[in-house]
Amino acid sequence: MLERDVEFRERQKRAPLYEQLERHAKHRPHPFHVPGHKMGNSFDNHAKNRFQDILELDVTEISGTDDLHQPQGVIAEAQDLAAQAFHAEQTKFLIGGSTVGNIALIMTVCRPGDKILVQRNCHKSVFNGIMMARATPIFLVPAVDLATGVAAGVRREDVERALLAHPDAKAVFLTNPTYYGMGIDLAKLAATVHRFDVPLLIDEAHGAHYGFHPAFPRSAMQEGADASVQSTHKMGTAMTMSSMLHIQGERIDRERLFRHLAMLQSSSPSYVLMASLDVARRHLVLEATEEWNRLLPLLDKFRERLDRLDWLDWPRLSTNSVYATLDPLKLFFHLRTAQFSGFDLQKWMEKHGIFSELADDSHVLLAASTGTASRDLEALCRLLESMAPQVEPGEERILLAGVVSSHYLREQALPMHEAVDCPRESILLEQALGRIVAEMVIPYPPGIPVLVPGERIDEESLAMLKELARGQTRFHGVQDDQLQTIQVLR
Ligand SMILES: Cc1ncc(COP(=O)(O)O)c(C=O)c1O
Repeated sequence: MLERDVEFRERQKRAPLYEQLERHAKHRPHPFHVPGHKMGNSFDNHAKNRFQDILELDVTEISGTDDLHQPQGVIAEAQDLAAQAFHAEQTKFLIGGSTVGNIALIMTVCRPGDKILVQRNCHKSVFNGIMMARATPIFLVPAVDLATGVAAGVRREDVERALLAHPDAKAVFLTNPTYYGMGIDLAKLAATVHRFDVPLLIDEAHGAHYGFHPAFPRSAMQEGADASVQSTHKMGTAMTMSSMLHIQGERIDRERLFRHLAMLQSSSPSYVLMASLDVARRHLVLEATEEWNRLLPLLDKFRERLDRLDWLDWPRLSTNSVYATLDPLKLFFHLRTAQFSGFDLQKWMEKHGIFSELADDSHVLLAASTGTASRDLEALCRLLESMAPQVEPGEERILLAGVVSSHYLREQALPMHEAVDCPRESILLEQALGRIVAEMVIPYPPGIPVLVPGERIDEESLAMLKELARGQTRFHGVQDDQLQTIQVLR
């Protein structure tokens, strides 16, 4: 190992924020500060035992614990260590998920009316950020993976064309990888975007582990993006809601960014969540590689076994793929049978104690991580194998997700932020053709809007929504989550 690497690992052994909280708890202090449970001294009796260890770390801004909004002590040190580990110049801890990072970035680069190039199949937080910034999105339609029918990434030529058509655009905002683990060649894309001297912002919510093992793609920071937002709680080991925002270069006004973060994040950020980021970073650097080295061959064997099931398939990277990278930790199954749906398979799995990320009509997505044990994979494999005799490979199911992902652009009759504030009414979905939608219609997961406020409901979108509503899709953003009715402008 190079001397530089030894030094790096030595430094990364520290977890300054977590260590400070532990030290403080050990002294058995008299806490006359919030939160009112006073480090676990008072708590619901039934739940106390389970929460106790964590409550002792759940303090607030007191001497020694630093302040997320003005970091100068242990939080600053923890963020510096994270920046070093994630190849960033600067890293900010996010309490409130990647959601808050995406919104803050968009509000930083866009002033009201400014254009931003944005991938249509992005998370709702990106659309919300655009509305909050009162910006104008220029949508980029992603390529569709024909084998699975889902949206992958945008094409570099499309981004370049859009930049030429909109030289006043303030930034390019993309999602990489997708929920399904598909990614594009970010290094090439970054070079293209930077030729126009605009920042490339990446929602890397599903890529906190990228760059930490040769089996994974390189991270957005390594590939030259100006900012990336990672849900460390998704593919890393931080606690839910704990994410990070990484920045490098001069294209982003950091002062403005930090001001927005301070406005959007709680003035009482959870020390437990922040400490979980500190130790999740240490785990990724020092321990995860060994765990992945055990897991990755298990995943290879698992896929080998499943290869015998001709009713089941998954994305495979080839020279013809519309994506350039694939996350080996995502188990994204595509059903090649008409006998049951992805929803049915998901329910069947749940009956056997196996819980997945999402299902739609023809897919089930499961996410593995360092926390996935061989017994988990064995249980999943056995269940899928046990179905083999009952399942005839049949006609391909209609690729509903493909339909969803292939028709993203509709007539934008009004800007999103104006449409959400217009007088509205609820009407039957059946009667919505030609009306302007007032709400975001998001089948969830994966959280990609089929319609955004201000768009006119056309025949395609109506047919798609009816089909989704007939299935068991849950909708976010809408008043009627069964989507029997829809909110439109009056
Ligand atoms: C692509 C993408 N971006 C952003 C988010 C929001 O992340 P968080 O849940 O950390 O707020 C999600 C959540 O599912 C997501 O899938």
